[in-house]
Amino acid sequence: MKNELTTQDFKNIAAQLRKPEGEAGRIIAEKMNEGNKSMNLHTIAVLNPEPNDQILEIGMGNGLFVKNIVAMSSSIRYTGVDYSETMIQQASEINNQFIVDDRVNFVKADIQNLPFPSAAFTKIVTVNTFYFWEDHSLVLLELKRVLKPNGQLILAVRPKENLEKFPVTNYGFSKHSNDEIIALLKSNGFSAIEITEIKEPTQESFVGGAEERETLILNCKL
Ligand SMILES: C[S@@+](CC[C@H](N)C(=O)[O-])C[C@H]1O[C@@H](n2cnc3c(N)ncnc32)[C@H](O)[C@@H]1O
Repeated sequence: MKNELTTQDFKNIAAQLRKPEGEAGRIIAEKMNEGNKSMNLHTIAVLNPEPNDQILEIGMGNGLFVKNIVAMSSSIRYTGVDYSETMIQQASEINNQFIVDDRVNFVKADIQNLPFPSAAFTKIVTVNTFYFWEDHSLVLLELKRVLKPNGQLILAVRPKENLEKFPVTNYGFSKHSNDEIIALLKSNGFSAIEITEIKEPTQESFVGGAEERETLILNCKL
């Protein structure tokens, strides 16, 4: 299958990873859940959800891992933001019972313009969205605004060297080195940064072939 993919196929997949839409978007979201499972679970371990946390996740895709975030305590409140209507719908279906129980809600919005009051969240988590941010400083300013004092931002990405192994990332993904990401965070007020780096077991790519994926998790405090 790998050799049959055209440049247009890669562009289409890249566009769906950036903003999954329609039936193809739902399928891509399920593929992402398989490929990014380890990354998401490691990130949730760093997030360390605690009782009474008000957690904001941005770009949760179809929200399959929300259950792992709220599992720790019924007092955790989770808000998922995504700018894809398809992802909001799918995440709401998957997490319907948590919504009924008033523990989870989903809001369609762009990371750069969040419809929440200032100091609304104890922790923000975002996995595999950094490559799509249009203006990193404006996004970080907006995240700081909605974080409570002493709040935490947990940012998880595939490192640049790892992204470069995947042809889809040639289409619309920004690629920053670890040092560049850390410099951006520091220059925008996130001074204390704990770094977790993980090499994941080799897995089968959904576009064919074996993939070695790596995860960088930055646990940032204001
Ligand atoms: C590559 S997917 C990652 C999904 C999931 N976090 C994971 O790692 O498997 C990126 C997700 O972030 C959302 N997204 C990308 N840019 C966004 C933005 N500017 N504002 C809100 N959501 C965004 C997309 O719609 C998509 O659901």
